[in-house]
Amino acid sequence: MPAYTQNKKIWLISSIVFFLVIFSAGLIFWYGLPLPQETPIDPPATALYLNSDVPIEMRVENLLSYMTLEEKIGQMALVDKNSIITPQDVADYNLGALLSGFGSKPEDNTIEGWKKMVEDFTDTSKRSRLRIPILYGADAIHGHTNVPGATVFPHAIGLGATGDADLVERVAAATAKEMAATGISWSYSPNLDLPQDIRWGRVYETFSDDPNLTATLGAAYLRGLQTQPSSSVSSNVFVLGTAKHYLGAGGMNWNSSSNKNFKIDQGTTMPDEKFLRETYLPPFKESVESGVLSVMAGLNSWGDTKLAANKELITDLLKEELEFKGFVVSDWYGVYEISSNDYKSAVIAINAGIDMVMLPFDYKAFVKNIKRAVRRGEIDEERIDDAVKRILLAKFSLGLFDEREEIASAVVGSEEHRELAREAVAKSLVLLKNDAATLPLSKNLKRIVVGGSAADNVGRQSGAWTVEWQGVDGNWLPNSSSILDGIKETVSSNTVVDYDLLGHFSKTGELADVGIAVVGETPYAEGWGDKEYPILSNEDLETIKNLQKISKKVVVIIISGRPLLTTNEIPTWNALVAAWLPGSEGKAIAPLLFGDKEFTGKLPLPWPETSQQLPIRPDGITADGTKVLFHRGFGLPY
Ligand code: BGC
Repeated sequence: MPAYTQNKKIWLISSIVFFLVIFSAGLIFWYGLPLPQETPIDPPATALYLNSDVPIEMRVENLLSYMTLEEKIGQMALVDKNSIITPQDVADYNLGALLSGFGSKPEDNTIEGWKKMVEDFTDTSKRSRLRIPILYGADAIHGHTNVPGATVFPHAIGLGATGDADLVERVAAATAKEMAATGISWSYSPNLDLPQDIRWGRVYETFSDDPNLTATLGAAYLRGLQTQPSSSVSSNVFVLGTAKHYLGAGGMNWNSSSNKNFKIDQGTTMPDEKFLRETYLPPFKESVESGVLSVMAGLNSWGDTKLAANKELITDLLKEELEFKGFVVSDWYGVYEISSNDYKSAVIAINAGIDMVMLPFDYKAFVKNIKRAVRRGEIDEERIDDAVKRILLAKFSLGLFDEREEIASAVVGSEEHRELAREAVAKSLVLLKNDAATLPLSKNLKRIVVGGSAADNVGRQSGAWTVEWQGVDGNWLPNSSSILDGIKETVSSNTVVDYDLLGHFSKTGELADVGIAVVGETPYAEGWGDKEYPILSNEDLETIKNLQKISKKVVVIIISGRPLLTTNEIPTWNALVAAWLPGSEGKAIAPLLFGDKEFTGKLPLPWPETSQQLPIRPDGITADGTKVLFHRGFGLPY
C-alpha cells in the first residue's frame, strides 16, 4: 500500500476518535456522568409506609427507600392544575402537589365540582407506582373563598383589629372545614408579613405591623387550621397551614419592585440582621414552634438576593437555627425570577433550601433539569432526599396515605360559619371619630340617607381573593348581605332609609337625621394594589358632600384594605368607622351603628397623616419623624 494511502487511513481514524472524544466530553459536560442504573423495586402490599400504625418517621424512610431519583424530583414539583397537560402526568411524573392558583377553578365551579376535581387528581396520583397521593393546595386568604357560596370572612387586617386570638382560631377552623369539604388539605395561609407602608397592595392580607400580635394571631390561625376537629382521627394535621412570606415581606422599599408593573410588591427589603431578628422573625419562629409544616419563601429580595435563592435565611436560619422540620415551598414562579436561566435558577433555589418549587407551569422541564443537575453533581442527592423527606413528613402527618375523615359539603357557607363571620366583622370595626356622641344612632330616626360606592356592593366589601383573584365588583356573592341591607334590617318600622349610590337626594325641606356614607377602595390583589396615594376617590368625596348637604350629620364608614390618607376630610365628618374588608356579612356592621353591640376593634397598624410619614417602622417611628394621625391600638368605645 502506498505510504500516502496508509497516512490517509490513520488520519481518518484519528479524526473519528477525536470527534468521538469531543462529542462524549460534550455530552458529559451537558448531562453529567450517567448515574448508576436504578432498578425500581416495587413495594409489597405490606410495606411499612402503607401501614398507618407505623410511626411517621419510619414510614417516610421506608417510602424513600423505594423511590427512584425521578420519582423524588417529581415530589418536589408544585404545579397549577391548569398546567397539567394530561391528568395521567400526575402519576407518570409522580408530582408532589397541585394548586389552584386563584381563579384556577374546575369547569363546574361548585362545591361538588371542586370536590370531584380534587378527588380525580388524587385518585390518579394514587395509581402511580408507589401510590403517593398528591397534596392539593389553595389560597384560603379569608375563608375558602375560591368557591362561590363559601363563607367570606373579613380579610386578615380586620382579624388583626379584633386582636382576638380565640376568634382567629375559630375562623381558621371553620375555613379548614370548608376546605376539607372540597377535598383540599393545604392552605397558603396565614400571612405573617409586617406591612410598614400602606402604599403596598397586600397590607390587608396581613394581621398587623406588630410582630408580637402577628405572631400570636398567626399561631392561633395555624392551630385552627391544623387541629383535627374530631378526636377519633389519628393523623396529626387536619389542613396544612403555610407561614408566608418568608422573610421581610412588608418591609420592601417603594420603587424597588423587580416586576415592572409594580412599585413595591416583590421589591427589596434592606438587609439588617438586628431588625430581621427583632421584627420579621418572631412570627415565623412562633409558627415553627406551633408545628407549622410548610413555609413559603416570598417573592421579595433580601438586599440583592431573591428570597428563593437565600441559603442563609432558608437553610441556616429557618431549618438549622429554628429547627423547622417541614418543607419550604417557593412562591408562584419565584424560583425562575432568580436568573434568566431556568436551569441555573432551579439549581440555586434547591441548593438554597427550597424543597418544593411552585413552578407552577412546566413540570417536564423541571424534572429534566433537576435530574441533569444531580448527574452533573450540581445538586447532591442528599439535598434531594432531605427535600423529599420533608414533603413526605407533611403528607403522612395529614394522613393522606390513610383514610381521611369525610366532611359534609353542607359546612360550606353554613349558617354557623356565617354567624362566626358576623362576630368577626363586629369585633373588627374600629371607631376613629365620634363627635358629640353621633353614634350610636337611634333606631327610631325619621329618615336616614345612605350613599357611597361600598354601601350596597358585596364585591367591594369582600375585596380581592374572592372567587376571582382581583375580586369582582357588585352584588353577586350567593347568600351575602350588603351594609345597606343591615341598616334596613336594624332600624324600626318608623324609619325611612333612602339610598342613592352618589348621594343625590332631592331636598324635602327637612334635613335627614343622618347621612351614612360607605366609601372606600375597589378590590385589588398584590402589586396591582400598589398606590402612591391611597386616598378616597373624587366620586366618594363628592358623595359624602352630597349627603352632608341634606342631613344633620354624617357618619363615614371606610371599606378599605389599609388606612387611607384622609387627614383633610376627617374634621368635616361627625363620625368615622374603619371597617376594613368585612366579607360576605355586610349586615354585621349595623348592630354597632345602632347600639346593639359595642365597638371593641383597635387599629392593627398606624393611620398616617401624610404620605411623607411612609414607611412607618413597627415601633411607630415615621419616615419624617412626625406623629401619625391615629397610632396602632387606637379605637374609641362609643
Ligand atoms: C402569592 C402567594 C400565593 C400564590 C399562590 C402568589 O402570587 O404571592 O401569596 O399563595 O400566588 O396562589
